Amino acid sequence: MPQPRQILVTSALPYANGAIHLGHLVEYIQTDIWVRFQKMRGHACWYVCADDTHGTPIMLRADKEGITPETLISRVYQEHTRDFAGFHVAFDNYHSTHSEETRFFASDIYGKLKAAGLIEVRAIEQFYDPVKGMFLPDRYIQGECPKCGTPDQYGDSCESCGAAYAPTDLKNPVSAVSGAVPIRKSSDHFFFKLSDPRCQEFLRRATREVCKTQPEAVNKLQEWLGEPGENKLTDWDISRDAPYFGFEIPGAPGKYFYVWLDAPIGYFGSLKNLAARRPEVDVAAFIERDAAARAGTEMYHFVGKDILYFHALFWPAELEHSGYRIPTAVFAHGFLTVDGQKMSKSRGTFITAESYLKQGLNPEWLRYYYAAKLNASMEDIDLNLDDFIARVNSDLVGKYVNIASRCAGFIHRRFDGALAAVSGTLLEDVRAAGETVAAHYQAREYGKAVREVMALADRANQFVNDHAPWELAKKEGADAELHRVCSEALNLFRLLTIYLKPVLPKLAADVEAFLKVAPLAWSDAATLMPGGHLIGEYKHLTTRVERKQIDALLEANKASLAPAPMSQPHSQQRHAEHQQHAEEKAAVSHISIDDFSKVDLRIARIANAEHVEGAEKLIKLTLDLGTETRTVFAGIKSAYDPAALTGRLTVMVANLAPRKMKFGLSEGMVLAASGEGPGIFLLSPDSGAQPGMKVK
Ligand code: MSP
Ligand code: ZN
Repeated sequence: MPQPRQILVTSALPYANGAIHLGHLVEYIQTDIWVRFQKMRGHACWYVCADDTHGTPIMLRADKEGITPETLISRVYQEHTRDFAGFHVAFDNYHSTHSEETRFFASDIYGKLKAAGLIEVRAIEQFYDPVKGMFLPDRYIQGECPKCGTPDQYGDSCESCGAAYAPTDLKNPVSAVSGAVPIRKSSDHFFFKLSDPRCQEFLRRATREVCKTQPEAVNKLQEWLGEPGENKLTDWDISRDAPYFGFEIPGAPGKYFYVWLDAPIGYFGSLKNLAARRPEVDVAAFIERDAAARAGTEMYHFVGKDILYFHALFWPAELEHSGYRIPTAVFAHGFLTVDGQKMSKSRGTFITAESYLKQGLNPEWLRYYYAAKLNASMEDIDLNLDDFIARVNSDLVGKYVNIASRCAGFIHRRFDGALAAVSGTLLEDVRAAGETVAAHYQAREYGKAVREVMALADRANQFVNDHAPWELAKKEGADAELHRVCSEALNLFRLLTIYLKPVLPKLAADVEAFLKVAPLAWSDAATLMPGGHLIGEYKHLTTRVERKQIDALLEANKASLAPAPMSQPHSQQRHAEHQQHAEEKAAVSHISIDDFSKVDLRIARIANAEHVEGAEKLIKLTLDLGTETRTVFAGIKSAYDPAALTGRLTVMVANLAPRKMKFGLSEGMVLAASGEGPGIFLLSPDSGAQPGMKVK
């Protein structure tokens, strides 16, 4: 048994001024799966996070609501922790950056950077709102583009001509906070000297290391850093003037740390806060350079690609020059799209975590779907709602749970709940595959892990089909065989449960209760449930997703369109919506080849066609796909006589989510042409095509 590793893991700290949505959850679920996997492998792994509470947007939002920032952030803290728990995201600690622990580390790091000569004070001129009495961040200033004159542009770039400029270049600027005309005002700012040769040299060396698992991230960093000697990375402004919600800089009254200075330091704050409760957590061994090197601890940050810049450049530079350890690795992921497009309030695809749970959708469906889609790259991931339904229903219900639901009853009814002793090559194969699955989890290739497990589930189902316990149960003298088959199937089910547990912790706990086994660790795959082991009564483990549940979810999120989030000035919200609409227009006319290839079109032979009692339009088709048969209810009665259909070939959509209809389950769809006039024309392939062939 190798030594357990000591691992500190973080997810990015969500801003304390908005609700958790399905985009955020990509990250928290991705991280949670990895952490749960490490724990199942027997490692000491600590998962810490916190709310990111500081900055101008939070201050202004509290202002608008007429409450203090402290009241706002404590309310949001409740909401965030509730939502994360709802999705089984199991932080070891969830803290706040507005805490004494974070203040302590922020002061300490700042003090050390200062002592190292890496902090410089310079006066800069900025826009100031004389009515509100505050300096204005770029996004709170609007005016005419200095280049093309388009009105209502933001302080950094023009939406119309694409020009980039300084906010002070805008013509006729106004403050988005008060509407006042801003004035230019000079003030001292504190800079972290990233242009210092020590920082440049360090970053060139270290960032490759920190991002080594992601070549595309290394390329990005290279771009940001420029060629050696180019000094592309300029000094970083780490202070903001009062009024600001944050930590006052020690020895600099009226000056505050910029939110992005203390945000990642919040990781350490959360760890320290955890250690107060858990004495086995040695904070120094995780975060101090020398102690960490001695102890061989590891630190990983999971982040979205939008904040890679902060985590792979600024943060390591801060740590390196203040005597702290640098991250072992930063893992960046892509952004969530829904049905191939950016999440959108008008379409109802800007889905909050709360609404998903309130609609009664199972959080593990989403965990499973994300896992099936996730890999180690920074590519965006798409939540395709039809695919979501199909995947969950076919994999979780149709493959995984199906194994147990078809066998458990016999053990309970016929053998008093006691298992028979089993062995054999299938069990051995499934056990041996555990290390492959583990390697995929370790490498954050969850999609591969899930595919591997589902391939094993297919084999387990094939085993059940081949031995047909429901037939054995009716056969004289087949008791021992029935006992053996069901016991083997349940052992296979237990092994698959181990492999899926990082993704499906709640379902796994229900299985543990049903099988009456202790909480499963990865090493439990080395053993089987012995002969005589008593299991409990099988209760249904998960339900199917219905399209109408998804429609209701979209509807619920459309309803919440009205108030613009107060985190952004109103016009910025408009700006975001405007952009989305432009993208929508561009997106409707084309689909990508990837979209098309999601449709699994197959040649099917109509093995049988019959009238459906009481249905006006439907014919019930039994379709032969070569390796399996499907039942499909097709609305073609007006055009075809069932007798004429039997035996002919057609084309079917084989991966359409099964649909419960009044007359039974329809497991796909046949393709037919129709126009304005009467007539329905079923497709047929040219001669030579065989059932099961893929149409592409
Ligand atoms: N507060 C900063 C992070 C500070 S970390 C020291 C922040 N907060 S955030 O709430 O905007 O985002 C939190 C995390 O969620 C980020 O890693 C971000 O990339 C991720 N996501 C937010 N929206 C997302 C999607 N639509 N899709 C995938 N991840 C997304 O950034
Ligand atoms: Zn312009």
